[in-house]
Amino acid sequence: MIEAPWDEDYSRGGTESIWGPPCCLYTEIINRLPRGARVLDAGCGDGRHSILFARLGFRVTAVDISRNAVNKLNLVARQQAIRLTTVLEDITSFRLNHHYDLILAHGLLHLLPAFEGRQLIDRFKRRTITGGYNVMVVITNLVALPLSARAHMKAPFNDGELRRYYKDWDLIVDEAYSSPAGRIPYPRHLNRVVARCTA
Ligand SMILES: C[S@@+](CC[C@H](N)C(=O)[O-])C[C@H]1O[C@@H](n2cnc3c(N)ncnc32)[C@H](O)[C@@H]1O
Repeated sequence: MIEAPWDEDYSRGGTESIWGPPCCLYTEIINRLPRGARVLDAGCGDGRHSILFARLGFRVTAVDISRNAVNKLNLVARQQAIRLTTVLEDITSFRLNHHYDLILAHGLLHLLPAFEGRQLIDRFKRRTITGGYNVMVVITNLVALPLSARAHMKAPFNDGELRRYYKDWDLIVDEAYSSPAGRIPYPRHLNRVVARCTA
């Protein structure tokens, strides 16, 4: 497997997430979840969203393929006495044993081979309770990625593709936006969807 450039960053000191504070999308979703809701954070990284949800008493399972990321998340959770379940595993082979109130894959799906990423959306949908939510944030191919990025960004989505997978759910958020170079050293175009399972 090719290591992504951020993998090593997870092992550097500090308890702050290398991705910054939690994304504002989740503030509103928190209010929609029942007490004790089950949350799956797929490709959790060092856990900025997992920690947010677990701190509020939700039952969080956080999965990442990076040992450094999971080690850091475990350390931070221990230090802050936060209870959550971490899993060091490739999300494509992770068994979804529960039905979840919320499944998020924030910045993950474009890193997977095209078929696996799209198939995963289908599995997430089948493992979401009626009335539950999926939050998916992906990089699109609308802005060309540098060659150096293509080794780990295996399958950027077509602009507008993500929403099509949720056409049978309620779309609560359906947005396209640009992100300037920063932590990731090149500009990107992204799509994000918050969808609610209706049936
Ligand atoms: C861009 S980071 C986003 C991290 C986190 N979701 C966040 O928003 O802070 C993508 C994460 O997906 C993880 N990842 C990549 N491929 C994966 C796979 N096949 N299974 C599980 N995690 C994976 C990476 O290790 C990385 O931590």
